[in-house]
Amino acid sequence: MSKAREIVVTVNGTVHHAAVDPRLLLADFLRHTLGLTGTHVGCEHGVCGACTVLVNGDSARSCLMFAVQADGQSIETVESLGRIGQMSALQESFHEHHALQCGFCTPGMLMTATDLLRKYPLVTDDDIRKGLSGNLCRCTGYDHIVKAIRAMVGKSGAAR
Ligand code: FES
Ligand code: FES
Repeated sequence: MSKAREIVVTVNGTVHHAAVDPRLLLADFLRHTLGLTGTHVGCEHGVCGACTVLVNGDSARSCLMFAVQADGQSIETVESLGRIGQMSALQESFHEHHALQCGFCTPGMLMTATDLLRKYPLVTDDDIRKGLSGNLCRCTGYDHIVKAIRAMVGKSGAAR
């Protein structure tokens, strides 16, 4: 096994010090080291988007990053959005618009949507669909996901 490396990572506003194997994926660090299992792992090779988190405010595949690459960075995971009984407006919108079935893709969808809502005007549904093109859902047909995000465009607190 390779020698562990010390890293300091801010996750959802909390600073974590850890010694990690250089080959440990960021997704596995979040799930297994920090216990933040909201980030899901699907394909593990950068295709499905289930593992999407925000790194310094930009969406990124946590299955394509090593934990050591997150050293000194700020990470946001789906746990930053809300919790049961205290969901964010975006999560409520997914609920209201039936934007999930199995829910496996949902954390990645929410984090990509957060990124999109913070940065882009999302004038048309096509803008939303293009923005979501890196996130695969095999259940919903996307219509309800697009509606849930559309309902949040321009709302204050849409993506905290
Ligand atoms: S698990 Fe990372 S893109 Fe699929
Ligand atoms: S809700 Fe099942 S994969 Fe998207």
